[in-house]
Amino acid sequence: MLQELIKLEQEALAALARAGTVDEMDAWRADYMGKKGALTLLLRSIGQLPAEQRPAAGQESNRVKQALEAALEGRAEAMKQQALNAAMAQEQLDVSLPGRPVTAGRLHVVTQALRSIYQIFGDMGFRVEEWRDVESDEFNFQLLNMPPYHPARDKWSTFHTTQEGVLLRTHTSPGQVRTMRKYYPEPIRVILPGKCYRYEQVTARAESMFYQVEGLAVGENITLADLKGVLYSFAKRMFNNNDIRVRFRFDYFPFTEPSIEMDIECFVCGSKGCRICKHSGWLEILGAGMVHPTVLRNGGYDPAKYSGFAFGMGPERIALLKHSIDDIRYFYANDLRFLNQFG
Ligand code: PHE
Repeated sequence: MLQELIKLEQEALAALARAGTVDEMDAWRADYMGKKGALTLLLRSIGQLPAEQRPAAGQESNRVKQALEAALEGRAEAMKQQALNAAMAQEQLDVSLPGRPVTAGRLHVVTQALRSIYQIFGDMGFRVEEWRDVESDEFNFQLLNMPPYHPARDKWSTFHTTQEGVLLRTHTSPGQVRTMRKYYPEPIRVILPGKCYRYEQVTARAESMFYQVEGLAVGENITLADLKGVLYSFAKRMFNNNDIRVRFRFDYFPFTEPSIEMDIECFVCGSKGCRICKHSGWLEILGAGMVHPTVLRNGGYDPAKYSGFAFGMGPERIALLKHSIDDIRYFYANDLRFLNQFG
């Protein structure tokens, strides 16, 4: 019996060494360790041995069984390793292949203009404050000195919502009163950037969605000269040109008195005249003025004691001039051939 066991073990190990696939290994397991496997049959016959031979046979058969199980496990592991080695040898990385280019993002040209604006006004002591895009008729018009019947409302073509008195702001000026109410009675120096919306024909110089940057300074003894000084310094820095030509002209806004606008020489055409400057050689980039006493009062500030200036500028217009772009519609058309040129 012991002889038979040892013979079986040798035979089984030799067969296992020849098994090269998973199927062959399964077959091997059935042949030796399965229900009708050679080892199983031998084990079963132990019961028929004379009693004095049984313990030794039992011990030896256990050893053989364990040896075969261990061998099977070792063989399976070896095969796995072999398969892995083969795969690694075959599927080598070709490090000489050019990689996929990483596309780097960049800031939108209008975002770049906005950030320059924040920087310049930041240096002059203005902090950035943001308000809402969806506004009330009250803040967009009424508190800015435009009651419901006021004809000046026609200057702002408005997107109304289905909710009475709720609209998309047509300018950032509603932020003036919101800011004053927030900071009263402190002196104020803020800029209020954000998107504005107008129900208008889109042209080379006007979009229906665009940015504005509102500016507001409130305090004692603030004059129109301060406003002009701030705006002129801004223009020089924004366009990197100390000899820049600007002009101030009188304008009308219900919420400022007096009201002015600032024009910059049109760099798009070199002041020769183009569709951007409406063939005038000048482009209006902002409206401004001294905060109207009624508006100061609506913000909580006593106009007998306080005065202030406000302005509202168009960053897209500024970006047009800065880069000599001849159509505002490029900004939001999402054409990468255009956008990739900046930054
Ligand atoms: N809100 C005005 C506009 O949209 C611009 C402006 C702002 C004028 C502040 C005066 C003061 O046209």
